[in-house]
Amino acid sequence: MKDSHKLSVAPMMDWTDRHCRFFHRVLVPDAMLYTEMITADAIRFGKREALLGGHQQGGGDRNIVLQLGGACPESLAEAVRLAEPYEYAEYNLNVGCPSSRVQSGRFGAALMAEPPLVAELVAAMKSATAKPVSVKCRIGIDDMPIDAGLDAFAEAVIGGAVVGGGVDHLIIHARQAWLKGLSPKENRAVPPLNYARVYQLKTDFPAVPMSINGGFADGASIADALEKMDGVMVGRAAYQFPLHLRAWGEAVFANPAPAPDAIMAKMADYADAEVAKGARLIAITRHILGFAHGLAGARQWRRLLSEEAREDGANGDLIREAWAMLTAHQQRKAA
Ligand SMILES: Cc1cc2nc3c(=O)[nH]c(=O)nc-3n(C[C@H](O)[C@H](O)[C@H](O)COP(=O)(O)O)c2cc1C
Repeated sequence: MKDSHKLSVAPMMDWTDRHCRFFHRVLVPDAMLYTEMITADAIRFGKREALLGGHQQGGGDRNIVLQLGGACPESLAEAVRLAEPYEYAEYNLNVGCPSSRVQSGRFGAALMAEPPLVAELVAAMKSATAKPVSVKCRIGIDDMPIDAGLDAFAEAVIGGAVVGGGVDHLIIHARQAWLKGLSPKENRAVPPLNYARVYQLKTDFPAVPMSINGGFADGASIADALEKMDGVMVGRAAYQFPLHLRAWGEAVFANPAPAPDAIMAKMADYADAEVAKGARLIAITRHILGFAHGLAGARQWRRLLSEEAREDGANGDLIREAWAMLTAHQQRKAA
């Protein structure tokens, strides 16, 4: 498993798009980043270039995992084949999403009830690439017993029950998904976190690289989990508190990240280049709103970068202006 998996940013629909990943790459140069989930059929029949392209910007990013959704071996294998030219580092199968739209396609978390099928899906994906294939799952769904049920799932998916199968890395969101009655958002908060169950799985299957996910929001907890697991995946806290993400990356990889000044200069240049190609500034600035979290001037920062960023002609200068405002606030506070 690549070292960069020690700290990863979770796949998050509508959030971890390519602009967001550009920002995160500057914040955590060494971490693994995940795309949003893209369904196999969207890649097969949709606007492939728009869905998969663009991430090579920033000097050819080799540490991005493409997350796929699907439940048909042939479709997933074809999606992987079609995605190969886009140079993602690895592929991941979503076995954790509880949304009803996803359930009606019988994929996402619903697949936890079908370990042999997941093994087949992994084998199909692997048949289409030489790159690693991972699975992101929950500790269980509904009334599936979290001891025997998760063991059986892991055995099937790890064991390579299907010829050529055998997942290269498991990422486990440490809570069950309750598919009946909870919204996806509730399913990220209501079922309790159970780290102990994930640690037990790693103890029982020590040879398989495993990352833990769910509820990580401070450096001490991440360091503690890394004593037991190969990687920690952070979702909401990484997105909402970018400067925390930067600090976690520095600690995990013992490698200094760019200074905040340099980060914002890079984002402003990136915004200029993207706006020149037709992007709207707000599509970029919406991901950096949390950068001022907890700082004096944060409210004005958010207002500038959410309201004024919508205006025609808005470009990287707005980020420069907002950053100068924020810096002036800090200097006044320090004086
Ligand atoms: C807005 C949002 C979108 C998400 N979209 C996906 C997704 O596309 N694929 C996936 O596997 N998980 C998705 N998740 C779940 C996260 O990857 C992660 O498992 C979950 O948020 C728990 O981690 P956290 O507590 O660190 O946020 C999403 C979460 C959020 C908040």
